[in-house]
Amino acid sequence: MERIVIRGQRRLVGRVPISGAKNAALTLLPCALLTDQPLTLTNLPRLADVDTFGHLVNGLGVDTTVTGARADRPGGGRAMTLTADRIASTVAPYDMVRRMRASILVLGPLLAREGEATVSLPGGCAIGNRPIDLHLKALEALGATIELAAGYVKATAPRGGLVGGQIAFPVVSVGATENALMAASLARGETVIDNAAREPEIVDLCRCLQAMGAEIDGVGTERLHIQGRSALSAAEHRVMPDRIEAGSYACAAGITGGDLLLEGAAAHDMRAILAGLTQAGLRVTEEADGIRVAADGPLRPLTLSTAPFPAFPTDMQAQFMAMLALADGTSVLTETIFENRYMHVPELARMGADIQVRGRTAVVRGVSGLAGAPVMATDLRASMSLVLAGLAAAGETQVLRVYHLDRGYERLEEKLSAVGADIARDGEG
Ligand code: UD1
Repeated sequence: MERIVIRGQRRLVGRVPISGAKNAALTLLPCALLTDQPLTLTNLPRLADVDTFGHLVNGLGVDTTVTGARADRPGGGRAMTLTADRIASTVAPYDMVRRMRASILVLGPLLAREGEATVSLPGGCAIGNRPIDLHLKALEALGATIELAAGYVKATAPRGGLVGGQIAFPVVSVGATENALMAASLARGETVIDNAAREPEIVDLCRCLQAMGAEIDGVGTERLHIQGRSALSAAEHRVMPDRIEAGSYACAAGITGGDLLLEGAAAHDMRAILAGLTQAGLRVTEEADGIRVAADGPLRPLTLSTAPFPAFPTDMQAQFMAMLALADGTSVLTETIFENRYMHVPELARMGADIQVRGRTAVVRGVSGLAGAPVMATDLRASMSLVLAGLAAAGETQVLRVYHLDRGYERLEEKLSAVGADIARDGEG
């Protein structure tokens, strides 16, 4: 099994290129199922989750052609053309879906295009229960009939296809909003989605669907109006920069007392993250080619609560916690989106962090230093928090279960080494 070995306490200085966003890519790829015309996605990150999604849609009949990295930005993302001139299968099998929860995002497009879809109930990150009831209710509002049997959900459209409808989400869900948007784009008539997620990845999805010919109003707001089309067409779309990757490297600057330029990061997608960094005592400046985050004295403690966009993202909670473990005072973090998203806490504690969890709240008492240790985590962002802790810790840290990091961080060791980290992958762990 592979592991990442870090010798910590090196100050990181330099430029880190930010890749295309994983979570945007995972909702843009299934858009290819909505049309028989080619969809080209550029700035697609090289990630295990993107490959897994590629294999999933290949199995449904989508032809994928990778046209290489962009010549003007070395290593800066691939372009992929996806063509589904016909759908070969409407079944997303357990073996694919269990590897990646986002596989549920083929449900809406397959149902809208073919009138039926069967998708295994998802697995994915072990960060709580994560039901899909809101996805199913949204599709029912467009006329679908849902059956659950033997670990699969089967959705069937009425004769003549999905029809526009009123969807009002009781809680904000990124994935359910994405499934609803994709399905509504091919439904007959108008759909209104209330309490829609407003995450930048949703805006990116809307832009792609618009480029394919969908008519969507209210983009970026909690009320979306979609005029369904009988067919969508060819398009090219550039995947937005990964705000969570950028935020993670910002924490790497903070925890090492460093100075990093996050090349290509988009500040308007990261306001709550940047506000948190500033309150933690970092100097954050928006520059022409990205965001610069530099240490400026000791780290200060924070009180933070995760919530849907535009508030502070749950996907940054673990990385901030690692950084705040070394702050000059006591921080209080509250996780409101997922239960069971503190699995990094015992591992950070093994490195010397002082963190008490009670229910949804974690109290982080800053310590003067962390010590390297072998650690492992059970989800992607938790794994990154351990890498961050390792970058600041005295001695050697070994992060096991590297496959979590490969799901969401493109060329992690390369990007960190280039700015001065002592980090390598070791195959013998
Ligand atoms: C997406 C992101 C994930 C991020 C999360 C919240 C992708 C691939 N993943 O996940 O990285 O952490 O948004 O920003 O984009 N819920 C229900 N029923 C449902 C769906 C969700 O109760 O049918 C609940 C969830 O359990 C959770 C909350 O709603 O408590 C938000 O989840 P949701 O926004 O749907 O997260 P994902 O789309 O799975």
